[in-house]
Amino acid sequence: MKSLRIAIDGPAASGKSTIARRVAEKLGFTYVDTGAMYRALALKAFREGVDIADTDSLRESIVEKTDFAIIDGELAMDCRPISNEIRSEKVSVLSSRIARIPDVRSFMIEEQRKLAKDGRVVMEGRDIGTVVLPDAEIKIFLTASASERARRRTLQLRSMGQCADEAEVLRDIRQRDLNDSSRSLAPLRSADDAITIDTTNMTLDEIIEIVVEKVQEN
Ligand code: C5P
Repeated sequence: MKSLRIAIDGPAASGKSTIARRVAEKLGFTYVDTGAMYRALALKAFREGVDIADTDSLRESIVEKTDFAIIDGELAMDCRPISNEIRSEKVSVLSSRIARIPDVRSFMIEEQRKLAKDGRVVMEGRDIGTVVLPDAEIKIFLTASASERARRRTLQLRSMGQCADEAEVLRDIRQRDLNDSSRSLAPLRSADDAITIDTTNMTLDEIIEIVVEKVQEN
């Protein structure tokens, strides 16, 4: 298999993570969840008591002191695996706020390009096909209705032992959609050359099959 890069973008809870991870497993590629990078950074700032709105201390105490790497096939921050605590709704909201900050975005773009430089990578996020890897060989943009995404995210949170109220999750998803698509830096949008897949009425296996077929055609 050629050394290619697969960019998978889409809104919150569109199924990107599960699909990207399964496609990477099938192809023997490295999987990079860039949302986890923003979440882990937001959680680190929160734990260290750094106010996200204070961009100077965020840059000096957090951004400049953070490093991402793939260790044993898994994304790690500061040499440690990223814990499931990044999946709480509190961290979702913080990560969406931190993702609007220019210093944070330029740092992330650099880190993400480093992680993808050897190819054989499936990288998922919001701006992978448009900004991080505009020359990725394969670009996929996943969509699904907000209510279907809220249903999926609620099930996922409950399966992780967190209590989740679907109406609240839907409100949070709508807010994050608005934040992610209205920000001036790298807003969420599909690249002109991306293949868009509406997953509302599709099973995971059907979606994965389409992506793997595209790779094999390449
Ligand atoms: O994908 P996930 O929901 O885990 O991402 C968390 C947040 O990180 C998103 O709401 C978005 O604001 C931000 N993000 C981003 N660019 C990416 C990946 C995530 O702005 N490439």
